[in-house]
Amino acid sequence: MENETNIESEYIHSFTLEEQQRLIDQALFLEPYHHAGLDFNGCRTILEVGCGVAAQMSVLVRRWPRAKIIGVDRSEAQIARARQTLATPLKEGRAELHLAAGDRLPFDDASFESACVFWVFEHVTEPLPILRDIWRVLKPGAPFATTEVFDKGLYMYPRLPGTMTYFQAFTALQAEFGGDPDIGVRMPGLLAQAGFVDVTTTDVSPTLDARMVDPQARRSFLNYFQTLLLSGADALRARNRVDGSLIALVKQEFAQLWADPGAVFSYGAKQTRGRKPGP
Ligand SMILES: C[S@@+](CC[C@H](N)C(=O)[O-])C[C@H]1O[C@@H](n2cnc3c(N)ncnc32)[C@H](O)[C@@H]1O
Repeated sequence: MENETNIESEYIHSFTLEEQQRLIDQALFLEPYHHAGLDFNGCRTILEVGCGVAAQMSVLVRRWPRAKIIGVDRSEAQIARARQTLATPLKEGRAELHLAAGDRLPFDDASFESACVFWVFEHVTEPLPILRDIWRVLKPGAPFATTEVFDKGLYMYPRLPGTMTYFQAFTALQAEFGGDPDIGVRMPGLLAQAGFVDVTTTDVSPTLDARMVDPQARRSFLNYFQTLLLSGADALRARNRVDGSLIALVKQEFAQLWADPGAVFSYGAKQTRGRKPGP
């Protein structure tokens, strides 16, 4: 198993309690955007690779009551927190957790009836070995879905110069750590290279515009994205890529967006689906 300190030093987010809670809030906030299109009907097992603190697994447990949900993550800290998040489903045998790397899954070939990944490939240098190992452990015909960022798709109106500067620093650091902040757009080709068939991709970018009139909904939406961007602030400040005044400006610009009824904020995300060939 990789050394936890090395993993952490090359991860734009972190493994703090605050960040772990952010992942749980994030899965719930983004559920309408990113779980609605998943079809695991009739699947008795759903594997999630890079399950983190089991934020998505909790949603899967609720949405797919007939399936057993199996999570894998390479970080001990995340798996430890996942054990707390999933205490009841683990006790009931509705969920399982494994500490392992995504390209060395501790399962036999053709073990699972479906699989999914959320927000993991953007952080890894070599996505193909992980996709190939997921392909290996799926049964013939099993569906697979992955939801990933396309950071170049970030759009703001009016343009927020401070937020754009901050975001460029954020994506540049993620790329320096070996990740690809635009990997969403590469996923269909990567699935095809790994052997998946019937590969399709859908734009699932959460978007705020004048159709969102409820002030509370607008506030929650913008709070979520402000928190997401600032989840990289510690890593960026530690490397002198941003300073306190830029972070203050980002917060000020988000407050302006909330008050502007004509504002648009769209964060690029792509959901790619395919299946292992077979019946
Ligand atoms: C941004 S978090 C997403 C967690 C979860 N999928 C969610 O949406 O809440 C990324 C997770 O991927 C895990 N991860 C990164 N590379 C991995 C790899 N090669 N194998 C297994 N897990 C990995 C990290 O430890 C982290 O928990």
